[in-house]
Amino acid sequence: MKKNRFHLHFILNGQEKSLDIEPGISALGLIRDIFDLKGTKEGCGIGECGACTIVVDGQAVNACLMFAAQLDGRKVLTVEGLSGEAELHPIQQSFSEQHAVQCGFCTPGILMSTHALLEEKPNPNRAEIIKAVAGNLCRCTGYQSIIAGIENAADRCCKGQKSSKKS
Ligand code: FES
Ligand code: FES
Repeated sequence: MKKNRFHLHFILNGQEKSLDIEPGISALGLIRDIFDLKGTKEGCGIGECGACTIVVDGQAVNACLMFAAQLDGRKVLTVEGLSGEAELHPIQQSFSEQHAVQCGFCTPGILMSTHALLEEKPNPNRAEIIKAVAGNLCRCTGYQSIIAGIENAADRCCKGQKSSKKS
């Protein structure tokens, strides 16, 4: 390792990654600029919009507010890791069916917040859904279709978890 570089080892979308990075680079910069995963968006850059939301060890976080070095040893999921090559993840399918996407800029972040929510609470109530996406701003939809998309996703994609997870 060169001096003033940080050796980062983590799991990104199910794959082990090991590399030297500048210590000051953000998690968002790492994902977008080094790994070229452009699904994670940069909106405000200051933790206000949620466009950069990723899931780290099961928690939805703003990648713009994290140093890449803070990902060391952790499991990171971005929107590119949600689905397989050929088909949409059930959350994405639900958003599509409920017309929860207009310009789409907010969508990857909201999908990731939804994923973290449904992993933790497969059967969320409306208040829990609203709270889970409270940090994700959308200028297009008025949120009703997004809430409907999340409710639909909870109904369809997490049935297995509902039956197997303890409440
Ligand atoms: S870009 Fe991270 S919260 Fe807006
Ligand atoms: S769909 Fe355009 S910002 Fe949400």
